[in-house]
Amino acid sequence: MDEKTFKVGEHVIEQGDKGEVLYVVEEGQLDCFKLFPGDKEPKFLKTYQPGEAFGELALLYNAPRAATITAKTNSTLYELDRNTFNHIVKDASQRKRDKYDDFLGSVPILSSIDHYERSKIADVLKEHTFAAGEQVITEGDEGHEFFLIISGEAFASKTLEAGKAPQEVMQYKAGDYFGELVLLRDDQKRAANVFARNNLKVVTINQDSFKRLLGPLDEILKRNMENYENYIHQ
Ligand code: CMP
Ligand code: CMP
Repeated sequence: MDEKTFKVGEHVIEQGDKGEVLYVVEEGQLDCFKLFPGDKEPKFLKTYQPGEAFGELALLYNAPRAATITAKTNSTLYELDRNTFNHIVKDASQRKRDKYDDFLGSVPILSSIDHYERSKIADVLKEHTFAAGEQVITEGDEGHEFFLIISGEAFASKTLEAGKAPQEVMQYKAGDYFGELVLLRDDQKRAANVFARNNLKVVTINQDSFKRLLGPLDEILKRNMENYENYIHQ
């Protein structure tokens, strides 16, 4: 891998250019701006830190650079050329993005996240299957994952009165989510059970990725908590 340095203010990538390399930040910080159709000024999107990578889109999709990246401080970057990238990264990452693209596009809770951010969610998904009747989440357990249903149905049950059997409180189908409460409310346990009603296929997102990728959904998820009439009273 080649190493390159950029002075503060220097453009590393310019939107619309042809792209031949992917960059990994070794030192420094870089800002990402994107000119959206109809806008006069590019919009600031994010700052890249050491350890992060950018410039993968042009290589993945053989497309012009989709944003401009400018050194915010003097920066040292590793450059990965197209061939190396193709061999190491592209196949696995693109296969996964392609596989989940339609599904993620159909999930209502993700509809406010732009396509690019959504495709990054694909990278972190883990798939699990459960047979009819199998328990997915146990009330009172610790929890570190968020669930999205790819196919099949599930239901949540909850102990509403101490000493009595849990009662069914929620039904789920493809595109629905559950398991967000424990991640939104730190230091709490799972607030309900979730069972597979029939053959159930889900993808999970772990706690770190949930915070990083679904942070923008915090408010919507919290508002939706009001749908759980009984969770507060436990
Ligand atoms: P690439 O299109 O090769 O070059 C510009 C890079 O900006 C792009 O790859 C991504 O790595 C990065 N980027 C970050 N956020 C976005 C975004 N919202 N849309 C497009 N590119 C983005
Ligand atoms: P979590 O507490 O992480 O794990 C159990 C999940 O069941 C919970 O998140 C919610 O997604 C879901 N759930 C469904 N109905 C309820 C309810 N009435 N109270 C609490 N959680 C519920």
